[in-house]
Amino acid sequence: MHVYFNGDMMPKNEVSISPDDRGFIFGDGVYEVIVAYDGRFFRADAHFERLRRSLRALKIQEPDMAALRAIPEKLLRANNLEEGEATVYLQITRGAAPRKHPFPDKDTPVTVYGFASRFVADESAWEDGVKVISVPDIRWMRCDIKSVSLLPNVLASQQAKENNAKEAIFVRDGAITEGAHTSFAAIFDGCFVTYPETHYILPGITRTVAIGLCREFNIPVREFPILENELKDADECMLLGTTTEVMPVVQVDDRMVGDGRPGPVTRKLQNALRKLIRN
Ligand SMILES: Cc1ncc(COP(=O)(O)O)c(C=O)c1O
Repeated sequence: MHVYFNGDMMPKNEVSISPDDRGFIFGDGVYEVIVAYDGRFFRADAHFERLRRSLRALKIQEPDMAALRAIPEKLLRANNLEEGEATVYLQITRGAAPRKHPFPDKDTPVTVYGFASRFVADESAWEDGVKVISVPDIRWMRCDIKSVSLLPNVLASQQAKENNAKEAIFVRDGAITEGAHTSFAAIFDGCFVTYPETHYILPGITRTVAIGLCREFNIPVREFPILENELKDADECMLLGTTTEVMPVVQVDDRMVGDGRPGPVTRKLQNALRKLIRN
């Protein structure tokens, strides 16, 4: 496997990251995940724009964005992933410096790391739908930044796994914000409802695409908090994400959603998104 590390493509086992790297010491970095179909990246501009926003929000020095933009394609080529489905992971940290909380000297170079892998779709989850569990949202107040500091998400995902669930959805102030690695939406009387874009959620790119599709299909959209105790009235629920696409949710904790099968609006969005991505 060839990876990208600070300007070069190299075999993964030749990468040497300093133990002083602030990504390692503080989780002081940001990342993006982009999906490619036959070498074409889906919504790459939006991913790079979000990456830039994350960097700016954390005041991490912006690397040369043009050079950064070229990395995903290079990774696909170097790993023979130009055909079929693949994902690219890109991470930038504040670089390596002796351990002190404030930012290091301005001339400390950022660390840039990227890898590509084959994407294997979870067809049965897309087809049959999945179970999710609800957990308290113990994250900080800047969930809009795609930071590598993901401990609450890691803990929630592990709890989901231990409960045979695909995802954990976070509950803050009684409302469902989003999943540990996905956006969340529900259908109430034909209306697509999802948490508003605030500091409490990541501005999901799939979420934006799904809202656009709803508008195309004349499905009303409401960006408004869904209270946990209202969820029992939802006709359909779904997870949204770059690798998750539109995934039907058929069970939340111990309760079935609707009749326990993926609903028609979810299916419509799912098919439309797949078509968009693959064409
Ligand atoms: C917390 C969180 N919310 C939402 C998403 C979905 O975002 P996107 O559709 O841009 O992949 C992700 C994806 O990683 C995530 O980690």
